[in-house]
Amino acid sequence: MAAGGLRYKDKVTLVTGGSKGIGRGCVEVFVRNGSTVVFCSRGESEGKRLEEEVNANGPGQAFFIQCDMAKEEDCKNLVEKTVKLNGRIDCLINNAGTHPSHKPIDQFSGEDLRELLNINLVSFFLTSKYALPHLRKTQGNIINVSSVVNTLGQHYATTYVSTKGGISAFTRGLAIDEAKYGVRVNTISPGNIWTPLWDHLAKTTDNPNEAIERGKDSQLLGRFGTAEECGLACLFLAADATFCTGIDLNLTGGAELNYGVKNPSAISK
Ligand SMILES: NC(=O)c1ccc[n+]([C@@H]2O[C@H](COP(=O)([O-])OP(=O)(O)OC[C@H]3O[C@@H](n4cnc5c(N)ncnc54)[C@H](OP(=O)(O)O)[C@@H]3O)[C@@H](O)[C@H]2O)c1
Repeated sequence: MAAGGLRYKDKVTLVTGGSKGIGRGCVEVFVRNGSTVVFCSRGESEGKRLEEEVNANGPGQAFFIQCDMAKEEDCKNLVEKTVKLNGRIDCLINNAGTHPSHKPIDQFSGEDLRELLNINLVSFFLTSKYALPHLRKTQGNIINVSSVVNTLGQHYATTYVSTKGGISAFTRGLAIDEAKYGVRVNTISPGNIWTPLWDHLAKTTDNPNEAIERGKDSQLLGRFGTAEECGLACLFLAADATFCTGIDLNLTGGAELNYGVKNPSAISK
């Protein structure tokens, strides 16, 4: 273990979409482990508040930069500002993304898919592309936040699962190309993690309480995962898993195991 038990001391981490949810869990865990963390979101007040909060506790430090990862210029500026502030990047966590409300394909347009691809996949591609010249110098690593639905699929979520399948495939392709530079590229695939996004999606259903109970019961462990647990899994990939590249680490509480009732006509009875 690194000096003082700090597992990512003197390292610079860039987290996209870090003001809330899984990204916030990453910011907190990495700062607690001595890393300097640059993170972004579109909303400024929550980002600034988190920056203040984590800097009060350290021992690492955080810098918030407002940006919209759906815009290529913002992806590029985020990387450039990170290097200007800190001189290096050791770990890029591509996390910013969203999940639209559930509906059948008939109610999604091509434009819906294009917009979602832009934030959920193209931003991962672009931020990786701009960060890689710096990651090659440090023999750093990239962690892409996919989802277990990239392998399981998910009802009424054709656009979302398309973007997450893309992320997992992108990870494997990039891991192959970057190995010669000593850069590792991995994916975490969370299942149901309790975040503002999950809370919002539950509220769009007819019965939010029932949706939340079903969300908990979808895991063998009988609960949601936490943003902190996602941050700890990312820290494991960044700091400890130095022989892992191109892997997809499930964070699911066992959601993908065992048979369940899946026949649509039995479920609606
Ligand atoms: N929660 C789950 O159960 C779950 C499961 C599997 C995978 N995931 C994945 O995990 C990632 C994070 O999900 P979450 O549940 O933590 O979501 P969340 O609670 O909505 O948090 C998303 C974060 O990303 C930021 N963000 C969103 N769009 C952005 C944009 N265009 N530019 C910059 N920042 C942006 C948000 O801030 P602003 O809104 O202020 O921009 C916020 O900080 C997503 O890729 C999601 O697909 C989540």
